[in-house]
Amino acid sequence: MGVAAKKMGTVAVMMLWMAFLCCHAAQGQRRRQLRFDGKRGEFRILQVADMHYGNGKRTPCEDVFPQQMATCSDLNTTAFIRRLILAEKPDFIVFTGDNIFGFDASDPASSMNAAFAPAISSNIPWAAVLGNHDQESTLSREGVMKHIVGMKNTLSQVNPSEAHVIDGYGNYNLEVHGVEGSHLANKSVLNLYFLDSGDYSTVLSIPGYGWIKPSQQLWFQRTSFKLQRSYMNKPEPQRGPAPGLAYFHIPLPEYASFDSSNFTGGKQEGISSATVNSGFFTTMVAAGDVKAVFTGHDHLNDFCGELTGINLCYAGGFGYHAYGKAGWARRARMVVASLEKTEKGSWGTVKSIKTWKHLDDEHLTAIDGQVLWSKSSSENEKSENADIGVTSESRMTRISTHDQDSLINLCIIMKQSGKI
Ligand SMILES: *[C@@H]1O[C@H](CO)[C@@H](O)[C@H](O)[C@H]1NC(C)=O
Ligand SMILES: *[C@@H]1O[C@H](CO)[C@@H](O)[C@H](O)[C@H]1NC(C)=O
Ligand SMILES: *[C@@H]1O[C@H](CO)[C@@H](O)[C@H](O)[C@H]1NC(C)=O
Repeated sequence: MGVAAKKMGTVAVMMLWMAFLCCHAAQGQRRRQLRFDGKRGEFRILQVADMHYGNGKRTPCEDVFPQQMATCSDLNTTAFIRRLILAEKPDFIVFTGDNIFGFDASDPASSMNAAFAPAISSNIPWAAVLGNHDQESTLSREGVMKHIVGMKNTLSQVNPSEAHVIDGYGNYNLEVHGVEGSHLANKSVLNLYFLDSGDYSTVLSIPGYGWIKPSQQLWFQRTSFKLQRSYMNKPEPQRGPAPGLAYFHIPLPEYASFDSSNFTGGKQEGISSATVNSGFFTTMVAAGDVKAVFTGHDHLNDFCGELTGINLCYAGGFGYHAYGKAGWARRARMVVASLEKTEKGSWGTVKSIKTWKHLDDEHLTAIDGQVLWSKSSSENEKSENADIGVTSESRMTRISTHDQDSLINLCIIMKQSGKI
């Protein structure tokens, strides 16, 4: 290589590096606001459920074939998420709890650092909620959530600042705005809700898992209403609410409404929801914007079924230090929301929401593709939702006149009187 060629090479490398830095600066600015991609008009979400991370290389796999044990550890969980990120290039990654398996994590902070490392190093924004195992080491649920919130590139929050009293840790929402430069650039066209579904019941007479409490439901209701109002108001008023997606760990009792005749995917174990129904499904139906719910918790269930206009979906077990089934691949769920093209050729509102799963096999095989929601199929639903919007507006006005600190009491009273 001549001197001139070498110089050219150096210049090329420097230009590449500068382009890389530019990209990163732009990404850094964009991180605070999620938005649809302007090339494809898409927003792609990867859901990772139940990583069950322990101590990394030292933590063995569960439920793999005996001959696979010697070479299998938490590092296989890490390898799977790395491959998925490279293959799917998601815009956002959601971890729906049991991110670490506390009992086998000698230092929960290190376990979380290792578990979320592939997301962090990919520079893709990510969020997490808690499962029922995350707090089983030396950190409380609050401690775990605080550690997560301090990590790089995460949009997770401990709790919403506007809700002074709320149960759990890790209740928050994120807005996904329209394409940069389009007329919906400053509007949330897709709403993401994250909730803490708890760990175990603390009520003596109620055995089993935790549930989404009235205080959380009230926060959800108020948030959904606020988002719907600003979406349907000026500027750029829209006819119906923007679609919403909800992510948490423990499935709702309504997940038991299906059998193989009316779900897509598999059910190989019971639905491990709380033994009581705290009414969150009904609250979501009444709010009118949530189109799909995504949980984990039951590693051998990976179906989506629709009930009263809301899809109830599992992601299927992801982690190798989690119970599973030898020969039944660990898996993850993708969700892609697509925008419609406006008459003027710009990007508009969300047209459809699709999902599928990837298996941890040689080709990351995609299975069970389905449309969860599309705008055309819900035209009638939209006018219904408009009616619901009016009802909740009067309800909201009543609530907002009360002292924030008496929110829980108010909730209990409203629940007893059947108002929520
Ligand atoms: C775990 O990863 C190792 C190292 O890449 C690999 O040889 C092994 O097949 C993987 N095990 C499973 C069960 O995927
Ligand atoms: C969105 O907000 C930015 C910054 O405030 C503004 O420059 C832009 O004109 C707005 N776009 C639309 C479509 O409202
Ligand atoms: C699914 O089908 C079963 C009967 O096969 C029925 O009992 C159940 O109500 C259906 N669920 C829904 C949500 O349609």
